[in-house]
Amino acid sequence: MNISQIRRFLAFSSFQAIFTLAACFAASAQAQGDVQTDSMAKRMQACTTCHGAQGITSNQAYFPRIAGKPAGYLFNQLQNFKDGRRHYGLMVGMVEHLSDAYLLEMAQYFAGLDVPYASPAPLKTPASAATLQFGKTLALQGDKTRQLAACTSCHGAALMGVLPSTPALLGLPRDYVAAQLGAWQTGLRRAHAPDCMGRIAKVLKPSDIDALAGWLASQPVPAVTKAALSLPQPQTEQCGGAK
Ligand code: HEC
Ligand code: HEC
Repeated sequence: MNISQIRRFLAFSSFQAIFTLAACFAASAQAQGDVQTDSMAKRMQACTTCHGAQGITSNQAYFPRIAGKPAGYLFNQLQNFKDGRRHYGLMVGMVEHLSDAYLLEMAQYFAGLDVPYASPAPLKTPASAATLQFGKTLALQGDKTRQLAACTSCHGAALMGVLPSTPALLGLPRDYVAAQLGAWQTGLRRAHAPDCMGRIAKVLKPSDIDALAGWLASQPVPAVTKAALSLPQPQTEQCGGAK
């Protein structure tokens, strides 16, 4: 299924489709263990309808890539959907009845996938060179006058995330990045306390978010796409969720 087919599919009968997907998924989750030959890959096909084959998506869609993200991060997010810290209805419906043990198994499965990233497509609505430059400066240097640390100080120098639970900022759709920062501003998305991203997002202006999302989504991923094992120096502030 390509992105436009998924869009049509979702626009056509999203709720019905999701309930069908969720039902298939729940059934396959229940069958877990019963059927020896039932592989995790097969059961996780319900997820790849939206997250892309093997967890890849393009920078033009909305669905975030999940393949290869730190397991601790993915597990936190599945719990966040289940426990009401994130509210995307379709995701909540998929995970609310699953055990934490199974959420962890799913997180580990997707974290273990090592699949290539697509080159970033041109932005649908081009950003000016000045906007992109501003986004780059904020991401790499932050803005001390606003107590805004560089994004790299937590997400890693390569912005490919840091183990155990900080995600990559490259390889994500522009609209998704902007929406997440907006959701943190309004409190619609929360992380385990202390929710550092909530504080950071509230410092950002709409023009900052626009510049950051545009620049991040235009960057090709580096040769090494794996999350860093650790940061060279301590974070400027604590974030919850690291286990
Ligand atoms: C109907 C489409 C759809 C299906 C099916 C789906 N997802 Fe999602 N998923 C999304 C969308 C859209 C988001 C982003 C939601 C938001 O804005 O918070 C998301 C977010 C996520 C996130 C958080 C990603 C991040 O970077 O923070 C994880 C983890 C995830 N999904 C895992 C799964 C798993 C595992 C499955 C299968 C059980 C699944 N999803 C099935 C649409 C879907
Ligand atoms: C103090 C550390 C810290 C700093 C600085 C920081 N982040 Fe984060 N960020 C995190 C952590 C930790 C998470 C995971 C939160 C969670 O568990 O939901 C995160 C998650 C995110 C996500 C969600 C990714 C996804 O896949 O859903 C986005 C987007 C994001 N940060 C953007 C930024 C941007 C842009 C900057 C720079 C302006 C930045 N962050 C600076 C720690 C930080």
